[in-house]
Amino acid sequence: MNITVKTQSFGKTSENVLVMGVHSNEKKEALVSKLLKPYADHLKSLGAEKVFVGSPGSTYFLRNFDGQSLLFFGLGEAKSASCEVVRCAGAKVSKILAAEKVKSAAVSIDTFTSSKGSKGAKAEDYVQAFAEGAFLATYKFDKYKTDKKKENVKVDLVLVQENRAAANSKAVEVAEACADAVFIARDLSNEPGSTIYPQTLAKTTEALAKKYGVKCKVLDVPAIKKEKMGGLMGVGQGSSRTPRFIILEYKPKKAKRGAKKVGFVGKAITFDSGGISLKPGLQMDEMKHDMSGGANVIAATLLAAKLKCPNPVSAYIAAAENMPSGTAIVPSTILNTRSGKTIEVLNTDAEGRLVLADALDYAQDEKPDYLIDAATLTGAVVIALGNVCSAIMGNDQKMMDKYMSAAEKTGEKHWQLPIFKEYTDDMKGKVGDLRNIGGDRSAGSSKAGAFLQEFVRDGVSWMHIDCAGSAWNQRHLPYAGMGASGHGVRTLCEFACSV
Ligand code: BES
Ligand code: ZN
Ligand code: ZN
Repeated sequence: MNITVKTQSFGKTSENVLVMGVHSNEKKEALVSKLLKPYADHLKSLGAEKVFVGSPGSTYFLRNFDGQSLLFFGLGEAKSASCEVVRCAGAKVSKILAAEKVKSAAVSIDTFTSSKGSKGAKAEDYVQAFAEGAFLATYKFDKYKTDKKKENVKVDLVLVQENRAAANSKAVEVAEACADAVFIARDLSNEPGSTIYPQTLAKTTEALAKKYGVKCKVLDVPAIKKEKMGGLMGVGQGSSRTPRFIILEYKPKKAKRGAKKVGFVGKAITFDSGGISLKPGLQMDEMKHDMSGGANVIAATLLAAKLKCPNPVSAYIAAAENMPSGTAIVPSTILNTRSGKTIEVLNTDAEGRLVLADALDYAQDEKPDYLIDAATLTGAVVIALGNVCSAIMGNDQKMMDKYMSAAEKTGEKHWQLPIFKEYTDDMKGKVGDLRNIGGDRSAGSSKAGAFLQEFVRDGVSWMHIDCAGSAWNQRHLPYAGMGASGHGVRTLCEFACSV
């Protein structure tokens, strides 16, 4: 999809399809008389005012009227039409046009930016949201399909503004950069476990880092051992595909005074079979996505670089394949982590926290002002929040509030869970310092967070994101769908840029 911004009177556009947003509380006839005078009488004769009231998500398509088709898109009441409503509108419009094999369409972008549902949002924020939705909705993971549709239509969208606003063109650029980054995360996570394993993930990340002008360093097995990362080595020891530790580093060209150092940590289990505590076979294939946290922090760091984030951002990705074999760790194994703490492995399927323990410790050597880990950590979070939302938890309420504000902007849902002392107590080990599962299945996500918190040093502001549900199958969203969603990439970057 190609999106451009053009300043002209909407009535003068020559594209085949004209798209307009309609708020349910405004008069369509007045809108049309203003924008498309020649069509006003015809719409009146059709009684459009009655058959189309502009409910959110509804459409009214007048085909090939006088050489042009008109697509009206309902946004609901202006006061509740948020950036997310407009993002969804952009996605649906883009899908409708593709399905109708429309090659080029003009969008009266002013009819979308007159929305008022997001507090403090400017016109360009709505433009960005619309374009983001339109771009994101075009994603397909069909590289392994042999019958790829040859006539995949590429839609040219022209966003028509009546008055010149440079910020709108910039907003489209930002939207495209965001979508590209989300696609990177989706591609990495959708890739089968047989093609993406720690070594290939490292290679792919190196290539992406080069493209985005970000520094990348990969620790191989001897280097990981030298770092005494017993958690990462332990999880990877059952697989012939050995672990890697990937480090990305973005530094702004001109360091701003008072800039905050942001550290991202990502779980990248390229396939989670459960190890010796083997998972059941049903839907085990989904565990190729168990590197979504890692994929998200990679994509967010690249995006931060692309958007010239004023703060330095580093990402630390612990990549391993969790497999059962004669060399795999067994329940009862004691692992020595980089921090010096020992972990008693009672279930080899609770492996994410083992690799994150080492990655968090490594990241803190760089003294970040804000440390965030992202991981598909627990099935419990899928039960609690479904695929709609990520859980966050941490040790700094102000930081989490800032994160929630960033999420409010991106429309990516997050919800805070507590880390109570009782959960921390439950993670104490009998033989080792910590055990990797609680005494029962209760509060599974919070207990995993409590476990991670034990590897956070005093005074470090830290937050954990459990994206086990949100990382895939966000079918409720017109701009996501089946498979990897990349949910969280845009918020991670927004946080890094705004903190
Ligand atoms: N990768 C899984 C978590 C997961 C579950 C991600 C469902 C996405 C969808 C994780 O490694 C895991 O297996 N966790 C266990 C922990 C348990 C043994 C304490 C779980 O949630 O069952
Ligand atoms: Zn697992
Ligand atoms: Zn896992």
